[in-house]
Amino acid sequence: MNGLPNKILYGGDYNPEQWPRGVWEEDMRLFKLARIDIATVNVFSWARNQPDEETYRFEWLDDVLDMLHANGVRACLGTGTAAHPAWMARAYPDVLTVDSQGRKKKYGRRHNSCPNSPTFRLYSERMARKLAERYKDHPALLLWHVNNEMGWRCYCDNCEQAFRVWLRERYETLDALNNAWYTSFWGHTFYDWEEIVLPSQQSEHFSAFGHEATAFPAMSIDYDRFNSDSFLACYQLERDAIKAVIPDAVVTTNFQSNGTYKPLDYFKWAKEMDVVALDSYPESGTPMSQIAMRHDLMRGLKQGKPFLLMEQSPSQLNWREVNPLKRPGVMRLWSYQAVARGAEAVMFFQLRRSAGAFEKFHGAVIDHAGHEHTRVFQECAELGQELQRLGDALIGARTASKVAIVFDWDNWWALEHSSGPTTRLKYLQQIQRYYDAFYSLNVQVDMIGTETRLDEYALVVAPVLYMVKPGFAEKLETYAASGGTFVTTFFSGIVQETDLVTLGGYPGELRKLLGIWVEEIDPLFPGQSNFLVMQGKASLPAVTYSCSLICERLHTEGAETVAVYGADFYAGMPAITRNTFGKGEAWYISSDTEERFLIDLFSELTTRNNIVPVAATPPGVEASARAKDGKRYLFLLNHNDQPAKVNVGKAPLRELLGGSDVSGEASLPAHGVWILEERTE
Ligand code: GLA
Ligand code: ZN
Repeated sequence: MNGLPNKILYGGDYNPEQWPRGVWEEDMRLFKLARIDIATVNVFSWARNQPDEETYRFEWLDDVLDMLHANGVRACLGTGTAAHPAWMARAYPDVLTVDSQGRKKKYGRRHNSCPNSPTFRLYSERMARKLAERYKDHPALLLWHVNNEMGWRCYCDNCEQAFRVWLRERYETLDALNNAWYTSFWGHTFYDWEEIVLPSQQSEHFSAFGHEATAFPAMSIDYDRFNSDSFLACYQLERDAIKAVIPDAVVTTNFQSNGTYKPLDYFKWAKEMDVVALDSYPESGTPMSQIAMRHDLMRGLKQGKPFLLMEQSPSQLNWREVNPLKRPGVMRLWSYQAVARGAEAVMFFQLRRSAGAFEKFHGAVIDHAGHEHTRVFQECAELGQELQRLGDALIGARTASKVAIVFDWDNWWALEHSSGPTTRLKYLQQIQRYYDAFYSLNVQVDMIGTETRLDEYALVVAPVLYMVKPGFAEKLETYAASGGTFVTTFFSGIVQETDLVTLGGYPGELRKLLGIWVEEIDPLFPGQSNFLVMQGKASLPAVTYSCSLICERLHTEGAETVAVYGADFYAGMPAITRNTFGKGEAWYISSDTEERFLIDLFSELTTRNNIVPVAATPPGVEASARAKDGKRYLFLLNHNDQPAKVNVGKAPLRELLGGSDVSGEASLPAHGVWILEERTE
């Protein structure tokens, strides 16, 4: 990565402002023991740095950076704008947000600033500039960390005004907006931009079935886009202030919710970031494929470029109902899981556990005991030493995938704002189901956006592609025509980018490519199911599979019927179809099928396209690979609580972490990790 050292960075969030200086000295000793080489500082220090409107005092931070430098630790410097000072909220209430019910917040918590507050924008930009000016030549400085886990939503008057400006830029005329939003419905025609209000619980939104529903999806989708852009504008403001002083600064911000944070379109954000950074907090018991998918998504945001694991807990969390310890070996295992999928930093929240307030029971490298004789510290120190020994082996190594899954925030917003056919249809769950099939086959997947190039992929899967954005259908046609295999599912091709239905039969713009038309969509109740009767076509077994959630009544228009429905009044009608398109083909899966079907289908499609699994492993052993300079690094990660037997082939392979050779059938310890080096040239 540009400007970053040639090893996997190791460290995390460090809050010396919470401690007397004497403790800092002890921290430096402990950092050294754990081979910590990066500390994220100043993330929540705005009030300390700026006690009032005019005064800035950074002496303590000078001291921190000097001390880090003297101890060989690089700084990931926070701009500190994730929590505004209390005096600012009192003097300028526009920094405070308003919730969907119209309640103005008082000063409190963090991540609490309105993204369209003039006060917030003025002072956050000024802070970023002052920090850049002060530290531009500081030798500890490595990376910039703007704000922290940016996001959430605001419904204040400034946001409303900014929404109107955003809409004017997008639509130019009210006629265009009225058409796009279909405002002839429920007499919503707007005659003046000032008539438009934010869609919230005070206007178009209401609570239904456990979520916030909307009466005007197009408006709510545009609000989502606007809100993501509003926060992005705040990020850009700080980034530009830094880059005006330090043109080659490496600037990032940390992504939340394990990288699948619904309010922000991370594909759009990633374009504005020098490197993607992720906060990963899996619950114990979270299927490991979920985290694998999110790591792959982080790598996909910048078309395969490595990312930083900016935060994970060395052990427990504090903010869930029950916050168990990470079992021995699990922190290391999960760290390598991220590295296997493209991470080039392993960082923790936090380096020293706070003595008070909300996070005092959150895991940390240095515990309340304050010394190195703890299980967690020892595990962290061992990992630090290991990463040091790895050196630059993996730096810049890329992941070669022939399969891509399309992930699109616009589609996510649109799909889940839709009223009907069923609130049970959830985008992330669907994406995960298709991902899981490849995960269990050990086939490497890239998570891609709608703008990513498709030509490198043999197989592209776009689950529930409800919204087809301009040009995307043509792109998919070109892809299939030139030999690619495309797979999509039920409830796809329904609307255009402002949620207007593509008329003439579903799946609208994808109809030609798929060679079908869908007449009716039938959602099923929980516990209800139908089944697929496979027709023995396309080298798939002539068996049956169950399906649920949604079934569709569809007709072929050139496609071959691979399976038909087994029950209900549409028994015998096509359920799975395959259409030859130019040199390639396009598949349609019209129902939410059991996982076994997806595994069988993708096993066949990968075989047919000469896509080979990265390795053969027993259940619970994850396999993933990175490659560079004629070498492939195969990661084998044992998520089981017991050792697993893995056959790595006859030829001995060097295992990078243990340093010895492995061959034949070998035993991978419980929670163990191997990185096997293979020559590919
Ligand atoms: C987030 C924040 C951190 C910290 C952790 C705790 O990721 O960015 O500041 O609060 O959660 O898990
Ligand atoms: Zn606001």
